[in-house]
Amino acid sequence: MKISVIGTGYVGSVSAACFAELGHEVICVDIDQSKIDQINAGIPPVYEAGLPELMEKHAGKNLSATSDYDLAVRNSEVSFICVGTPSDHQGNIDLSIVKAASAGLGDAIRRKKDYHVIVVKSTVVPGTTEKVVLPIIIGRSGKHPDDFGIAMNPEFLREGRAVHDFMHPDKIVIGSLDRRSGDTVALLYRGLECEITRTNPTTAEMIKYANNAFLAARISFVNEIGNICKELGIDTYEVMKAVGRDFRIGPHFLNSGAGFGGSCFPKDVKALIGKASEMGYEPVLLRSVIAVNDEQPLRMVRLLKNRLGSIRGKKIAVLGLAFKNDTDDIRESRSIPVIKELLRDGAQVSAYDPMANENMRKVFSNIQYCSSARDALYGADACMIMTEWEEFRSLDKEFDVMENRLIIDGRHMLGPRKDIEYLGLCW
Ligand code: UGA
Repeated sequence: MKISVIGTGYVGSVSAACFAELGHEVICVDIDQSKIDQINAGIPPVYEAGLPELMEKHAGKNLSATSDYDLAVRNSEVSFICVGTPSDHQGNIDLSIVKAASAGLGDAIRRKKDYHVIVVKSTVVPGTTEKVVLPIIIGRSGKHPDDFGIAMNPEFLREGRAVHDFMHPDKIVIGSLDRRSGDTVALLYRGLECEITRTNPTTAEMIKYANNAFLAARISFVNEIGNICKELGIDTYEVMKAVGRDFRIGPHFLNSGAGFGGSCFPKDVKALIGKASEMGYEPVLLRSVIAVNDEQPLRMVRLLKNRLGSIRGKKIAVLGLAFKNDTDDIRESRSIPVIKELLRDGAQVSAYDPMANENMRKVFSNIQYCSSARDALYGADACMIMTEWEEFRSLDKEFDVMENRLIIDGRHMLGPRKDIEYLGLCW
């Protein structure tokens, strides 16, 4: 089939490349000419494992990019809206980019005779597809809702594993108001072994939020248990390993530590809180999920100060800047509040991340960026481990270059060892 994908962020470019891999003809649309040029040259505009191979394989064949909505809509049967949904200053969802994309698509289908389906893939609060996107398309296209299709098809892609997750989904959710729209979207996933959940757009939107909020709540839950374990001198990892053997709970997402970051969990939980409050419901549990998460990095700095006293003028090595391993993404990384606190208390920070140094430079220009863990640890009075990079697990002799061998581990990467003072955050 022929597909256009509006927005070439990580969801848009991964979906476009994977749909091309499934044999569809795909046109990406973006307002950023440099991204368009990259895609046409077979280079991914975002870092994602497996994406360079797919882009190189399909660019110039069944994958291309343009800034022209008309061209994209004319040459496709289905358009996916994959644009960003940032938070406004109160944490609520900002739908301005979704609205702009809907307007662009509405204008383009006004000039098209054939049936066209518009699919919202961006994460949007329940009601958006029906009450925001649909009226814009009707208004701009001048068409009757029976003459085009509309659907909501959320993504469940983890950064760093997005290509794998797209090609091996554990669920595909399609929300539509009419059968024909949903059937058209379902056809695009033919070839993937996965049951398709068919529902209405508002329920599809809520499934995405409930999914992310549940995972975020699970992390805050294990962090709270971990904080209590720490007070009691219990290793929470031993506790959760046993708890995870309960088939109703399962072993995944039970790692306590510095908390969740990234472009999704913090933003989506806050957006759901905003939507619930707007409806007059006070989401006590969801607020606590955020509160526990905000507290974890501060607990790390408190552990440090309890041990060192004043940290003014002390050199603190921060290992890991990305919000998780295998990505250069620093959005909502737990290292950001830690570094802020350290600087506020007058410490000097030497930081190292295998991929994210350059991105963090845009946030903090006043810390030292190092090209190895050893360089960051050189002469340091303490070390904070913030990201679960595999290479940190094997650090050993590198700690010898520290002035004072104190490690505060926020990710359960290391354990107690000889000649080192080791403090786990929740264990
Ligand atoms: C998350 C979801 O996992 C995806 O299913 C979803 O599609 C995506 O958001 C999205 O909405 O687009 P992602 O943000 O890439 O994916 O990252 P995760 O791998 O889920 O990790 C999120 C954060 O939780 C990381 O900071 C990680 O360190 C932390 N985490 C994860 C824990 O602290 N403990 C755990 O046990 C697991």
